[in-house]
Amino acid sequence: MNPSLDCPSSCPFVEARNPAFDFPVGQIRRIASADPDQDVDETKRNVLKLLAVAGLVGAGAGGLAGGALQYVQPPTVGISSFPKTQLLDVNGSALTVDGVESEYNVNTAQLYLFNYPLRNEPNFLLNLSPANGEEPSATNPGAWNVPYGVGTHGSIVAYSAICQHLGCPAPAIAYYPPGVCPNNTFTTKTYPNMPFYIHCSCHGSTYDATNSAANITGPAVIPLPQITLEVEDGEIYATGNIPGAAPVNGHLNTLQGDYGVGTTSQLASESPIHLCSFGLPS
Ligand code: FES
Repeated sequence: MNPSLDCPSSCPFVEARNPAFDFPVGQIRRIASADPDQDVDETKRNVLKLLAVAGLVGAGAGGLAGGALQYVQPPTVGISSFPKTQLLDVNGSALTVDGVESEYNVNTAQLYLFNYPLRNEPNFLLNLSPANGEEPSATNPGAWNVPYGVGTHGSIVAYSAICQHLGCPAPAIAYYPPGVCPNNTFTTKTYPNMPFYIHCSCHGSTYDATNSAANITGPAVIPLPQITLEVEDGEIYATGNIPGAAPVNGHLNTLQGDYGVGTTSQLASESPIHLCSFGLPS
């Protein structure tokens, strides 16, 4: 891995990265190892056509190389629409509501990430329900019925794990469960002194895990893109982005910049990087 192509140079965690979630070098790497069996959209084919045309034009003007160089653009891969992708647990079995609600809760510190809709676009899977299964309150941290949440209490959500400031990916951006940074809580209308959130250690952006990853602190000024989830026969699928979601940082749009994940995407477990040397608005 070439760090200069990876996390922004200001990110202190380049060496701590999981190569499985390289970003944005993924686009360059994928092109170098293009797999003909994978879903390549019209853009790449059109670029190849353009190269051929550019070569002909250049040859006519006095040189194939000159013509090609004049028209070459980096080839872009991607998909044309959001797929319906079944999520798999870390063991490769179908990810179910029952499984998520029994294994993960608001106190789960370990990160569970799945790529969607492209291979180099990791997302957090979170269950914000309290560990004791009881209704959240000021003394029982957690959240039910969050926007676009699924599961028994609407507490299972998924957000992009690429920071919307300069693109630091997980684990530099991580979910912080209650108690990890006891001095950092913030207040919303619904949850006073909320002690859990998503925070990016690169430059300090913080996002509200209970409210479509809205910004709590900058420098990021837009929310993390939220993935829409659907449940069929108790099994969980990723189906798209919520309306109005911005493109994933570093991509022309969320569907361009790598090959699609296809019909399934498996959770990967990763240890978070937690720093508490920041403050939240009260
Ligand atoms: S990349 Fe700058 S705060 Fe996350």
